[in-house]
Amino acid sequence: MKGIILAGGSGTRLYPITEGISKQLMPIYDKPMIFYPLTTLMLAEIREILIITTEVDQSGFKKLLGDGSRFGVQLDYVIQPSPDGLAQAFILGEDFIGDEACAMVLGDNIFYGNGLTKLLMNARKNAEAGYATNFGFRVHDPERFGIMEIDVEKNIVSVEEKPEHPKSDFAITGLYFYPAGVAEKAKQVQPSARGELEITSLNDMYLQEGKLKGELLGSGFSWFDTGTFDSEMDAAVLIRAIETNQSRVIACPEQIAFDQGWITREQLAERAELLKKNSYGAFLKKTLEATK
Ligand code: DAU
Repeated sequence: MKGIILAGGSGTRLYPITEGISKQLMPIYDKPMIFYPLTTLMLAEIREILIITTEVDQSGFKKLLGDGSRFGVQLDYVIQPSPDGLAQAFILGEDFIGDEACAMVLGDNIFYGNGLTKLLMNARKNAEAGYATNFGFRVHDPERFGIMEIDVEKNIVSVEEKPEHPKSDFAITGLYFYPAGVAEKAKQVQPSARGELEITSLNDMYLQEGKLKGELLGSGFSWFDTGTFDSEMDAAVLIRAIETNQSRVIACPEQIAFDQGWITREQLAERAELLKKNSYGAFLKKTLEATK
């Protein structure tokens, strides 16, 4: 199973901050934003990951993440010349995906909650069995998102992109699992009125074939689309509270990789040494000592 992190876009909603740096490289409390979607894919045990960025920002991502070996994963990079829509990611990633199933997470989406790993592994299994999965989250401003309408048995009945009159309060979050063949399907998506290859059109194709499953992220979960000053601050405050309260670092790729046996003690020790001046590094050291 392959994974894609879509981290392009011009970030104009966060100007002047993003005039000089990619949004997804900015911090959410103690780590770069992209660590959150990266670890979401890692929790689904996805180790081959494609990072899609703008041309100017690619070097920053490469500097931060390298070839992925420090996190026990394999990273590839592709440029999206212009932000022509989320579904374009699969066309850009066609060679990378090959004949495998593929998940995609938006570089500015943060997921946190008890049982997330189980949901992710379920979606992975479904993708490998030929089904796509969308994750719904209840929001107070549904007209800002892709929306899933669900029936009493929690099956998806319809999907719509930013509808004027939303049929439900369940936003389709920026995390999608697809079976093999998604690039071929993405090529059939027609540009929308705003000129983008919409992910919602792609999801609708799976829905029409009876191949789209919905998972609702209930009240035990937090989801942030960190595209505004306020949502970034809200996410950072929550992450800080959780980490202080639980004396740990969440969305920590080194720790997940170590727990999975994807990096060695020596590799983890090297990272702990590099990061030793702060609480992130202290957590890596603690992780190391706990398994002595
Ligand atoms: O966050 C969830 C929402 O994401 C979904 O509910 C919507 O269905 C989906 O269309 C998307 O809506 P947004 O309005 O948040 O999409 P936006 O254009 O802001 O793009 C989301 C992120 O993806 C953003 O960080 C920029 C990046 N992006 C966007 C486009 C259109 C790219 O990297 N390339 C692109 O072509």
